[in-house]
Amino acid sequence: MNSEEFKKMAAQSAMEKLQGRKIVGIGTGSTVKYLIDEIGADHLRFQNTLFVPTSNDSEKKLIQHGLKVTHEFSGFIDITIDGCDEIDPDGRLIKGGGGALTREKMVAYNSREVVIIADSTKSVDKLGDFGVPVEILPFLWRNTIERLNEFCRTEIKGDPESKTDNGNLVAMVRTGKMNDPEKVFNFIKNIPGVVEVGIFLNLTNSSIICGRDGCSFKDYPLNKR
Ligand code: A5P
Repeated sequence: MNSEEFKKMAAQSAMEKLQGRKIVGIGTGSTVKYLIDEIGADHLRFQNTLFVPTSNDSEKKLIQHGLKVTHEFSGFIDITIDGCDEIDPDGRLIKGGGGALTREKMVAYNSREVVIIADSTKSVDKLGDFGVPVEILPFLWRNTIERLNEFCRTEIKGDPESKTDNGNLVAMVRTGKMNDPEKVFNFIKNIPGVVEVGIFLNLTNSSIICGRDGCSFKDYPLNKR
């Protein structure tokens, strides 16, 4: 079995979490794509569910399956299921490899429950080897990159012409393994021009991580909101 099959296993295992949920946040990425396919295959069961997508890409896929999506409502999302680029033993995450980190963080923050699905390559002891994706405004973007660079080696992710769904750019800050992700988060978040930082703290309620030894299900009770 390969990592694609493990992503699919994690997505399939998450399906039972959707039982009885009316408003569901849907993340972004290749793992979540498997989840959307599973939901789509069972779309009659989700006729009365409203989905809050974290990217235009996920939104398009949900609509193709005939599912209802919204960007606007008040109150809380019942549950959000999303992938990650890295997850540590406390459920802290690096996200944003797909450029959707700002909407992903907003959706997670406004959810009563957040479940992360991933293959076992995403599981790390310390966050940071992936780099920290940071969404920045196009205005004075070179200056923002320079300020980030004074902190840690930073480059623009991909083509500066390619924009996020919010019309912004994504920078990659090469922190390497972080001893104190909260400190790094606070430092980066304080730089004007930074929209959001791909370090997700205290947001994960549970994870489903699948690999060669099967799927492991973990709860992070300290993150209960
Ligand atoms: C999107 O911006 C990211 O946060 C994704 O959730 C993350 O990159 C996981 O993607 P894959 O499921 O494709 O690995």
